[in-house]
Amino acid sequence: MSRLVVVSNRVPVPEKGGAAASAGGLAVALLAALQERGGIWMGWSGKSSGDNEPGPLSLEEQGKITFALTDLTEKDVDEYYFGFANRVLWPICHYRLDLAEYGRKEMAGYFRVNRFFAHRLAPLLKPDDTIWIHDYHLIPLAAELRQMGVKNRIGFFHHIPWPPADVLAAMPVHEEIMRGLAAYDLVGFQTDHDLENFAGCLRREEMGDALGDGRFNSGDKIFKGGVYGIGIETEAFAKFARKAVSHAMVHKAKESIIGRDLIIGVDRLDYSKGLTQRIDAFERFVLNNPAHQRNVTYLQVTPKSRSEVPEYEQMQRTVAEQAGRVNGALGTVDWVPIRYINRSLSRPILAGLYRLAKVGLVTPLRDGMNLVAKEYVAAQNPDDPGVLVLSRFAGAARELKGALLVNPYDIVGTANAIARALNMPLEERQERWQRMMDYLLEHDVSRWCDDFLNDLAA
Ligand code: F6P
Repeated sequence: MSRLVVVSNRVPVPEKGGAAASAGGLAVALLAALQERGGIWMGWSGKSSGDNEPGPLSLEEQGKITFALTDLTEKDVDEYYFGFANRVLWPICHYRLDLAEYGRKEMAGYFRVNRFFAHRLAPLLKPDDTIWIHDYHLIPLAAELRQMGVKNRIGFFHHIPWPPADVLAAMPVHEEIMRGLAAYDLVGFQTDHDLENFAGCLRREEMGDALGDGRFNSGDKIFKGGVYGIGIETEAFAKFARKAVSHAMVHKAKESIIGRDLIIGVDRLDYSKGLTQRIDAFERFVLNNPAHQRNVTYLQVTPKSRSEVPEYEQMQRTVAEQAGRVNGALGTVDWVPIRYINRSLSRPILAGLYRLAKVGLVTPLRDGMNLVAKEYVAAQNPDDPGVLVLSRFAGAARELKGALLVNPYDIVGTANAIARALNMPLEERQERWQRMMDYLLEHDVSRWCDDFLNDLAA
């Protein structure tokens, strides 16, 4: 087994001496693979230095893993992270070309930082290392490494949706981005739909096509593309949630909703998550179902995210105002319909809250996979499971067949699904939950990791 080198924009360095208690399944799976094979995890430190040149890589060894972190300059962070990755690629990949703010300076910064990453990474590489690059921030990294003569196997996993050809084409540098992907040996997507879109982009731009057997060509390059829907640590998370219900905060939450059903939503504050439509749907549900008034509480946990991007700053105001307006209009002296928390909660608290909630509301307008949906299912009590109301536009909808699927743009349809979930008989809830849980147990995050790395090695 060759050594593994993982590169991602953010790196979840575990606290010294302890397991990464706050880490999600992705970090846990990649750390386990790195620990087994030995390797390096490289990425941005999350810090910016005011200087023109970031300092040297900071290396930290933990067991068989070396964490290699680099600061970026303020200009780099502005252009590469906020500018191109999050104001061009993110909206384009989420089908929001109306929100894409394309600028040449930002595009140059994105390619510059990828070249910089390549120059920092190359000296650390051994000839038979397997390199696995993650996320839209680093698409051109393989091409930069290849230009430096790196011949190792390099795989890329695209964690977010891949858009249709017409949407991608609105981005002025789309051909360069496509060429960047063709420099990999294997490119992984979350769903078959994303892979089809990708093949459509190659055809539409007359850059290449699917050759069968999962192979693609682009110019003279032949590479593989496949579907690897990311999973969670299903068994561990289920156990974690069972324990978490006795956490003091979860206990307090439980006492505060006695006699009421809990509906939960947990999302980063992002326009792709469909938060305003979801609050509208909840309001519509309450208005249409007087019998449920005063006996439901909708808890929306929404940590701030990318606040320096204007669209996110605007979104933060909009959601807060909307939650306040609905509470003002529908609340009574002893009932607050929406509890809105605009910061993050720890994973044990979230796991316990998922288990308490009768309904998990996961209604993004577009999402690569959505692991909250999977964690909500894994956290349920098999004797009395809650119901997942899931957007048909989340990657998870292609896997979790026991969910109530909704179109998040259809406010009345989503409101009706909430009512149906709350009224669903136990037997149907159990049957739906079991179907999803069986799938999640079989397709957990270790399998995702193994499947991708085996195909990259093949
Ligand atoms: O879903 C894509 C993703 O980049 C994840 O990999 C990451 O955890 C998440 O978005 C958060 O984004 P950011 O690093 O910008 O806070």
